[in-house]
Amino acid sequence: MSKKNREIVSGMSAENVSNNTGINVQNTEIKKNQNTNRRDFIKVAVASGVGVCAVGAPICAGTRMVLAPVFQENQSGQFYPLTTIESLTEKPQKFAIVDNKHDAWTTLPNQKIGSLFVRKVGDKVSAFHSLCPHAGCMIQIGAKKNPQTGNEEEMFYCPCHAAHFSFDGKRLDSVSPRDLDSLEVKIENNKILVRFENFTFGIAEKRS
Ligand code: FES
Repeated sequence: MSKKNREIVSGMSAENVSNNTGINVQNTEIKKNQNTNRRDFIKVAVASGVGVCAVGAPICAGTRMVLAPVFQENQSGQFYPLTTIESLTEKPQKFAIVDNKHDAWTTLPNQKIGSLFVRKVGDKVSAFHSLCPHAGCMIQIGAKKNPQTGNEEEMFYCPCHAAHFSFDGKRLDSVSPRDLDSLEVKIENNKILVRFENFTFGIAEKRS
């Protein structure tokens, strides 16, 4: 090969190498940028996650605190003295339950926290919560048509969706998913004490 030809071949090789090197450098820079972008994205995502946790924890705690009175609403389950056994009748009588009402921040003395019905048949005393198990409306006493017999008679009824119950708390129709909620009764020195508690509405099972 002549000297000139060798120079031409050499020059081509040099130019190609130079071109190739330029492309490689460019590719390397693109890859670097992609890696940098990925790292930046991960950093931002991690930082955001940490931020959400840092901000979210107090918010969650705050929400729980704000809702605390709701969570503590069902503060029930103790016995309350109501009346003497002699004063009870077969027709149910209504009693208010009065107690100090607590929430997360305050105690309000002598508040009405609920009500119930008590009756006596022979020696047997029974008590029922005054809220309808269907959706929690206040149960009334009055003369209504018995859905089972068609006769008008005194009974428990609920004005909201027309549920009917006999005086022993049994359902007379299928409006309510369960009978009236009975409450535990005890008698001490002729005094009637009833354990007052609240139950979940709208379900067949009687539970707190
Ligand atoms: S709440 Fe009593 S019938 Fe619906």
